[in-house]
Amino acid sequence: MMDESRRRAYLRAMGIDLWVPRGGAAAGDNGLLTTASAPAEPPRPPPAAPALAPPVALPPEPPPEPQSDSRWEPVWEPDWEPAPASHTAPVPADARPPLAPSGRQPRPGPTPPAVATLPPDPTGMDWDTLAATVAGCRACALCETRTQTVFGVGDRQARLLVIGEAPGADEDRAGEPFVGRAGQLLNRMLAAIGLDRDQVYIANILKCRPPGNRDPRPDEVEHCRGYLARQVALVRPRAILSVGRISAQTLLGTDTPVGRLRGRWFDYGPDAIPLRVTYHPAYLLRSPEYKGKAWEDLTALAKRLGDRAD
Ligand code: URA
Repeated sequence: MMDESRRRAYLRAMGIDLWVPRGGAAAGDNGLLTTASAPAEPPRPPPAAPALAPPVALPPEPPPEPQSDSRWEPVWEPDWEPAPASHTAPVPADARPPLAPSGRQPRPGPTPPAVATLPPDPTGMDWDTLAATVAGCRACALCETRTQTVFGVGDRQARLLVIGEAPGADEDRAGEPFVGRAGQLLNRMLAAIGLDRDQVYIANILKCRPPGNRDPRPDEVEHCRGYLARQVALVRPRAILSVGRISAQTLLGTDTPVGRLRGRWFDYGPDAIPLRVTYHPAYLLRSPEYKGKAWEDLTALAKRLGDRAD
């Protein structure tokens, strides 16, 4: 159990200003969060692509969202904004093609066109082969518009695997997931449960940026499916945190809104890895009133990670 002063320090780092009793006199005026509303991120059409894992059977009626075991709820600074982007992440070795023996990158030859066939089956690939395969992937049209692929980053033996949606403009430039404003909030969310960014592994459903940050298309998800499945198999995390609608719906093979997927555990994939859904940090930046829900998800995750011995 985290002691109170440490927890408060983490919460401050996450952007939580202070704690007040639920239902206190200032409720409603000061941004006090309750667990009563279950917001949904904007709906999207049902995915046509197969899920990354066999769909998880949802119970007919979702159980009520768990109530906090405390009478206290975090209150977020209403005007809180993360610091302006200052993180100029180096392009990780993961995301670069292997260097030539000389240490120099080989001169690129003519760029082959995107092909409409599935990429090679990554089952059995080691990390370096997988990273190089992703870096050279031309299986869908996103290869024409990307600056570079965004493979994944972090501890390859992490206890926690965070799975987002797809690179945005910042990630496309840096070659690393979650380096923009949403990434800074993700870092604070992880810090709130005592985890540094480099203690987890972070990957996305898609390895290339969809132009204009549009939703991934089913064929794009399908082409990237095996890459993420192999990353999951290589990391073998103790838990997965799925952030946002696209990640959750793709991983769980459902079109159920995030608001109904969060608040409970799923078993993911053949190894039944415990998976928790929460709101995407980009969504939380737009809708900070849901950070209290995200905090509930994070504490459940921290408890699950802590329950299992290292
Ligand atoms: N959003 C995501 O889902 N992934 C990133 O890498 C960046 C923003």
